[in-house]
Amino acid sequence: MSSSPIRFTSNQLNFSAGPGALPESVLREAQEAIVALPETGVSVLGMSHRSAWFEEILAESEANLRELLDIPERYAVLFLQGGSSLQFSMIPMNFASGQSRAAYVRSGYWSAKAIEEARCVRELDIIWDGAPDAYRRLPDPASLAVSASAPYAHYVSNETIEGLQFEQALPAAAVPWIADMSSDFLSRPVRVDGHAMIYAHAQKNVGPAGVTICLIDSDLLARIPDGLPPMLDYRTHARYHSNYNTPPVFGIYVLTLVTRWLRDSVGGLAGMATINRTKANTLYGTLDELSDVIDTHADRRFRSLMNATFRFRDERLSERFLAAANDAGFQGLAGHRSLGGVRASMYNAVSAPAVTHLSGFLAEFCRAHA
Ligand SMILES: Cc1ncc(COP(=O)(O)O)c(C=O)c1O
Repeated sequence: MSSSPIRFTSNQLNFSAGPGALPESVLREAQEAIVALPETGVSVLGMSHRSAWFEEILAESEANLRELLDIPERYAVLFLQGGSSLQFSMIPMNFASGQSRAAYVRSGYWSAKAIEEARCVRELDIIWDGAPDAYRRLPDPASLAVSASAPYAHYVSNETIEGLQFEQALPAAAVPWIADMSSDFLSRPVRVDGHAMIYAHAQKNVGPAGVTICLIDSDLLARIPDGLPPMLDYRTHARYHSNYNTPPVFGIYVLTLVTRWLRDSVGGLAGMATINRTKANTLYGTLDELSDVIDTHADRRFRSLMNATFRFRDERLSERFLAAANDAGFQGLAGHRSLGGVRASMYNAVSAPAVTHLSGFLAEFCRAHA
């Protein structure tokens, strides 16, 4: 069952929620570098993190991110380990040391996780809760009431599992906003200076798992109390330019290749955002045409451009669809274990023709089986 004349590789049909698809040109360059970097003749996996080569890669990765996102000079750009999950507890350790409670938006599985882990460190306030509504919608940012004394307010810009995305960054409030952008980082332009901190792990749009990017305003860094273990103190990583202990050299190398690809091949983040919107319009358009058979999870106003979560109204068809899609070469379409159904993740490296191919396959499957 295929309506497309194009033959796709499994990499090109990788709709996994993460680790996700990476650009083919980046994979090929990384493949060569695993054997021998053209610049050094040594495998990237054996390059010292103290080498001049790696110092240059670190400097370039930071410079490319600063250019792509227009990051103001006063923000530190850090490459850390421990995934986005370690940020869930490091953030309150570093920034919620006073008496006042930080404010959290609970809009899905990942913001709930952030809250659960932050609560192990400090008490906090939930200022909006989407749980009673099964995480189908998001708050109007302008309506969020954050106490002026809150040390920070935290939200997740794109809920990867439910497929909910804030249309734009939350407005600058009197409090510092901290955003987990793990699943939409570098997918569109973002106003960094509207946030005190942005963090994102690499394994969606940026590279392999193992490196987490943190952009932190120096005003926020200045509030960190003394006495934290050095590895858990953001200032340590800022002071050592992300080279305090052995960093994930390979992950940072691939991240650098991806930032070059974004800059040189897709027209930066504005170009990437246009492509991502086109892809999402194609898939959601098909899902809406099939609404007799398919139910999309997110309220349409909050649909994510990155992750489309849906299920067949006849639950048995979800299973059959996943099996048929797998046979047809599509990868990673099963919904998260907490929600079931189907989830198609359209990260940066998933092309518009691949999304059109998936949409055609879905329509044909429904014609044949529903
Ligand atoms: C939005 C979001 N935040 C946090 C995480 C957890 O990330 P990690 O596995 O890097 O700890 C995920 C995982 O997919 C995510 O999608």
